[in-house]
Amino acid sequence: MSIDYKAEIERLKRELDVTLVAHYYQRDEVFEMADITGDSLELARKCKADDNPWVVFCGVGFMGQSVKVIAPEKRVLMPKIACCAMARMIDGSYFDDSVDYMVKHGIAKEDILPITYINSDATVKAKVGEMGGYVCTSSNAFKIIEKGLETGKKILFVPDRCLGQNFAIRMGLKSCVIGEGECDPKEADVICFNGFCSVHQLFTVDDIEFYRNKYPGIKIAVHPECDPKVVQAADFVGSTSQLIKYVNELDPEQKVAIGTEYNLVNRMRQKNTYVLSSTKPECPTMNETTLEDLYRTLKSIEDGNPINEIHVDEHTVKYANLALERMLAIK
Ligand code: 13P
Ligand code: SF4
Repeated sequence: MSIDYKAEIERLKRELDVTLVAHYYQRDEVFEMADITGDSLELARKCKADDNPWVVFCGVGFMGQSVKVIAPEKRVLMPKIACCAMARMIDGSYFDDSVDYMVKHGIAKEDILPITYINSDATVKAKVGEMGGYVCTSSNAFKIIEKGLETGKKILFVPDRCLGQNFAIRMGLKSCVIGEGECDPKEADVICFNGFCSVHQLFTVDDIEFYRNKYPGIKIAVHPECDPKVVQAADFVGSTSQLIKYVNELDPEQKVAIGTEYNLVNRMRQKNTYVLSSTKPECPTMNETTLEDLYRTLKSIEDGNPINEIHVDEHTVKYANLALERMLAIK
C-alpha cells in the first residue's frame, strides 16, 4: 500500500516536538508543509526564537548548520543534505589564502574586517568570527558593511563577488575581486572573493532588454546575487523577502519580470508577473528535497533513529556563533 506522505507528515508533526522549516526556494509541496518559512535571515531569527528541541530543515546545508550554530542544544536534521554551489566555492584554506593575499599587498591582518555571506560553511564563518567579523545575508548586507566600515578597516567580503560588488556600488565604495584583473587591496574598500551563484548568473542584460522591448514600462526586479551589470540595469534589487514585498505592493496591472529562483517566482506569479529568463532558473540542490524525504526524516525521529543529523564541532560553533550573533544583534 502506498504511503500518503502529506497525511503522515501532518501526523508526525502533531505527535513529535518538531518544527519544520523551509526556505522560499523549496518545491511547493514541501514549502506548504512547513511551520516556519522565510529567507535566510528570517529563518535564522525564527529558528533561534523557536522552542521545539527538533528542527527538520528543508534547504541547503549551510542553513541547517547555521541553526545548529545559533542553537547548539537543538537536534537539526535535513531531509537532503544538499549543498549550495556558491558555499562550496570557499573553505577555510581559501579563506586563509584571501587574507594572505591582502597581507601580501600591504594590509596588516589586524586591519582586515572579514564579512561572510551566510551562504558559506560554518568553518568559514568561524574564521570570520575569530577575526572579529560578521555574517550577512542579502537582506542586511548594507547595514553590516556599514557597521564594518565604522572600524576603519578594509572589508574582505566572501564568497559572493556579486553581492560584494553590488553593495559596494550602492554605497559608493571601491571594490575589486581577487583573481580578476588588477585587485590592489590598498586601492579598494571592499575586497571580494571570486565566488558566485550559478543560478543567479543565468539572468542577463539581454533578458532585461528583451522584456523591456516586449512590454514597454515593465519593471525589472532582481536578487543581489545577479551580476552587477544586471543589477545596474534593473528597477529594483532585493533579497528574497524584499522581492516578495516589492511585487506585492505593485499595482496589479503593472507588469514585472523577476530575476531569482524559479520556485519562488512561480509562487508569486500572477497575470503580470514573469520569470526574467528564457530558461527555468531552478536551484538544483534546493530542489532536491521531496515529500518522501521529509516523511522519512520525521519517521526516523519517531523510530528513535534520526537520520541526516547536522553536527558542528565545538570550536566551530563557538566562533561561527560569534559572527552570526554579531549579525543578529544588528536590527
Ligand atoms: P536569501 O537570503 O534571499 O534567502 O537568499 C539565499 C539564497 O541562497 C539566494 O540564492
Ligand atoms: Fe546557493 Fe545559488 Fe542555490 Fe542560493 S540559488 S542556494 S546561492 S546555489
